[in-house]
Amino acid sequence: MKFTLETQDTQTKARTGVIETAHGSIQTPIFMPVGTAGTVKAVHQRELRDDIKAQIILGNTYHLFLRPGLDIIKQAGGLHRFNGWEGPILTDSGGYQVYSLAGTGRKIKEHGVEFRSHIDGSLHTFTPEGVVDIQRQIGADIIMAFDECTPYPCEYEYARASMEMTHRWLKRCCERFDETEGYYGYPQTLFPIVQGSVYKDLRVKSAETIAAAGREGNAIGGLSVGEPAEIMYELAEVVCDILPRDKPRYLMGVGTPADILEGIAVGVDMFDCVMPTRNARNGMLFTTEGIINIRNLKWQDDFSPIDKNLGGYASSFYTKAYLRHLIRSNEMLGAQIASIHNLTFYLWLVGEARRKIEQGDFGTWKNVTIKKVMQRL
Ligand code: GUN
Repeated sequence: MKFTLETQDTQTKARTGVIETAHGSIQTPIFMPVGTAGTVKAVHQRELRDDIKAQIILGNTYHLFLRPGLDIIKQAGGLHRFNGWEGPILTDSGGYQVYSLAGTGRKIKEHGVEFRSHIDGSLHTFTPEGVVDIQRQIGADIIMAFDECTPYPCEYEYARASMEMTHRWLKRCCERFDETEGYYGYPQTLFPIVQGSVYKDLRVKSAETIAAAGREGNAIGGLSVGEPAEIMYELAEVVCDILPRDKPRYLMGVGTPADILEGIAVGVDMFDCVMPTRNARNGMLFTTEGIINIRNLKWQDDFSPIDKNLGGYASSFYTKAYLRHLIRSNEMLGAQIASIHNLTFYLWLVGEARRKIEQGDFGTWKNVTIKKVMQRL
């Protein structure tokens, strides 16, 4: 993997760049659609590439390991071959999914995490070495280190001990990664993850530790877990100021359009979130004019396009009234149109941000855009 920093904004800490992977290049800042089980829910690979203009998608170690399992993915020749997405893929390590399994009897120990499958209740253990091996077999271009994502709120002592364990797990991940090779003949890379909950001193320490690991890119985890947005922006800035300038920075699981633009402003290059796809299925649409709950009565006879400013097929061709009918009727096409639309909006948002950074007016554009796109229509 190679990262080239292109433009550095003068009003904010935003920047543009290009990440080159074996499966193509990624223009940053970028939003990565979430494809948990090897599919971005309700969206074809061809729509991802041609309509949404996605440049990289996510997959999840936890889900893919449990189903279809590594034998099938390996037989297919890796996840790219299995699902037909030819662009770059990043896999999350399972650290977050395991966090989401709190209350189901999962046990976090120094060795790793013991958990029960949400599918059949079977017992499994994820270790730092194991999740590197799994992501090698999935064939992800970018592999994430195994971490513990702390909940919010979180006691200082727990956050400190957890962060230190995440750092020890990182060392084990790096050792395993460096002594193994990919299965499919192309290079993969490993990103470590900064933790430290909402404590600034812990975040500083974690960012320094992660920077010192000297990997090709770095991630910020443990944010957007319920803390106020202002705290998230402040901590993201503290961490970005420490992480190396010449490597991509990935803010995990973030967020709303406002969160993404504020993240870009403090120096983040990569984002992922289930929000555009999950909310689409519930009828919440992000548009260039503001946020729409398409289920509301006011859209029943609105025969204007979903969002004519985006230019994409789904957003320009279908009307709000028709999409409202589909979503209210639980029709599958409703989920498809809404998901394609919301992802088109998210990719438009980061693409515009990139253009504005290049033009030198990102800061002012950001503030106007947040006000506009976050208002409820
Ligand atoms: N996705 C969102 N937040 C996190 C995190 O802290 N760790 C991991 N592994 N994935 C995430």
